[in-house]
Amino acid sequence: MPNAVIVGTQWGDEGKAKVIDYLTERSDVIIRFQGGANAGHTVIANGRKFVFHLVPSGIMYPDKTCIVGNGVVFDCEQFLKEVDELNDFGISVENRLFVSDLAHLVLPYHKAQDNAAESNMGQGKIGTTGRGIGPAYSDKVSRIGLRVGDLRDWDLFTEKFTANFELKKKLIQSVYNSDFKLSIDEILGNYKVIRDRMLSFIKDTGFLSFDATRNGKRLLFEGAQGTFLDIDHGTYPFVTSSNTLSGYACPGCGIGPSAINHVIGITKVYTTRVGNGPFPTELNDATGEKLRHEGGEFGATTGRPRRCGWFDSVMIRKSAQLNGLTRLALTKLDVLNTLDTIKICTHYEINGKKTEQFPTGIHDLSRAVPVYTEMEGWKCDISGCKTLQDLPSKALQYIRKLQNLCYDIPILIVSIGPDRNQTIEVDPLV
Ligand code: GDP
Ligand code: IMO
Ligand code: MG
Repeated sequence: MPNAVIVGTQWGDEGKAKVIDYLTERSDVIIRFQGGANAGHTVIANGRKFVFHLVPSGIMYPDKTCIVGNGVVFDCEQFLKEVDELNDFGISVENRLFVSDLAHLVLPYHKAQDNAAESNMGQGKIGTTGRGIGPAYSDKVSRIGLRVGDLRDWDLFTEKFTANFELKKKLIQSVYNSDFKLSIDEILGNYKVIRDRMLSFIKDTGFLSFDATRNGKRLLFEGAQGTFLDIDHGTYPFVTSSNTLSGYACPGCGIGPSAINHVIGITKVYTTRVGNGPFPTELNDATGEKLRHEGGEFGATTGRPRRCGWFDSVMIRKSAQLNGLTRLALTKLDVLNTLDTIKICTHYEINGKKTEQFPTGIHDLSRAVPVYTEMEGWKCDISGCKTLQDLPSKALQYIRKLQNLCYDIPILIVSIGPDRNQTIEVDPLV
C-alpha cells in the first residue's frame, strides 16, 4: 500500500484506530504525529480490546515498527502504562517502538495547570480531557518546554524541571488561585525511574522514517483528534492545542510532503463531539440518546457521554478542503441499523441565507440551522456483510448519498462493527 495519512474528518472518535489497525497489515511503519494522551484510540482484534492514548494503533501486529513522532506531546507515565499492558498480553514492543527525542514532555504540572485553567473559565470552559495538552503545547511555543531527549542528561533535566516547576507553582497559586499539591521531590524521584526505562525508546525518528521510505517501506501516519479540533481551522476556541490536519504529518514526524501518497478521511456516518462548542446537527432528543446507546458513544479517555447528531456533509466538504482527502473510510454504519429514517445535513441556513460552506468562525456556526434530506432506514442487521453488494439496498443508497454530497471522494472502507473483521474494503489502495 502507498504511504497514507489517516485523519479524523469530524470532532474525533471517528474510528481512526480501528482503520489504522486494519491497514497496518499492509504497512511497515506506523507514526503518531500530533496530540497526546487526550486521544483515546480503540482497537479490537482477536478478541482483545486495547485503548491506546500514545502508543500507535498499529502495535498489535508483532512485526511492525511504531513511532511516536516529534509533533506529539508525550506523557511518559501513560506511555509506560500502555507498554506494560501490551507486555502483559504477550505483545512485545522491544526494538520496534520508538519515541522522538524532539517530542515535548507533558509533566505533572501541565495537568495541574490544565485543570486550574479550566476551573477558572467557569461557563466558558473548553471541556478539555485534563491531560495537560494545552499547557504542554503552550510551553513548547513559549520555548520553555522539556523534550523527551532532555531525559538523556539528568542534571540538565533536573535544572530545567525545577525552574518550570517554580513558575507553574506561582501561576497556579497566584493567578488561578488554585491549590498546588505537587511535590518536586516526589516527581523527580519518580522521573528518575521513568528516565531509566525511557532511554531505550528514544531515537531520531525523523531519520528512521525517512530511511524507511528510501528503502521502500510503507508508512502509515496516525492522526489524533479530528479536523474540527484543529487549532487553526477548527471551531476555535473549542479545539485542541495542535494541528490535527493531514499536512501536519510532515513537521510532526520529520519528513517532507513528497512522502505522502494518500490522505484517508475517517468519517463516522453520523456525528459526535465530546467537550463544549457549537454542533449544528446535534440531537438533544431520544434519537440522539439512541445513537449514543447503539454506538457506545462514551469517551475512550474520559468516559464522558459523547454528544450525538446527524451526518453533516458541510463539515466533510470542508474537511476535504483542509486535508486534501483522497479516500473516505466510512465507519459505524451498523449503528444506524434500527432507525426508521435517517437524516443527512446537506447545507446550512445562516441568518436566513443558504450556505453550502462551513463558516470560518464559531459566531456564524453557532447560528447555523442545518437543512436535511431524509432517507429510509434499512432496519436489519448488517454485521454479516462481506462486500458492498451484501449490504441492503437502502444502506447502499445512504452511503452513496453521503459520498455524492462529499465531492464523490472514492470510498476505501465501510466499517460495520468494532472488530478488525467487520470491515468491507471497497477499493483497495495499490
Ligand atoms: P478514534 O479515537 O477515532 O480511534 O475512535 P474511538 O476509539 O475513540 O471511538 C470509536 C469507537 O467505535 C470505539 O469504541 C470502536 O471500537 C468503535 N467502532 C469503530 N468502528 C466501528 C464500527 O464500524 N461499528 C461499531 N459499532 N463500532 C465501531
Ligand atoms: P481522539 O484521537 C474527541 C477534545 C476535548 C475538548 C477539546 C480540548 O480519540 O479522536 P484537550 O484535552 O485536547 O485540550 O481538549 O478537544 N478532544 C477530543 N475529542 N476525541 C479526541 O481524541 C479528543 N482529544 C481532545 O474533549 O473538547
Ligand atoms: Mg477516540
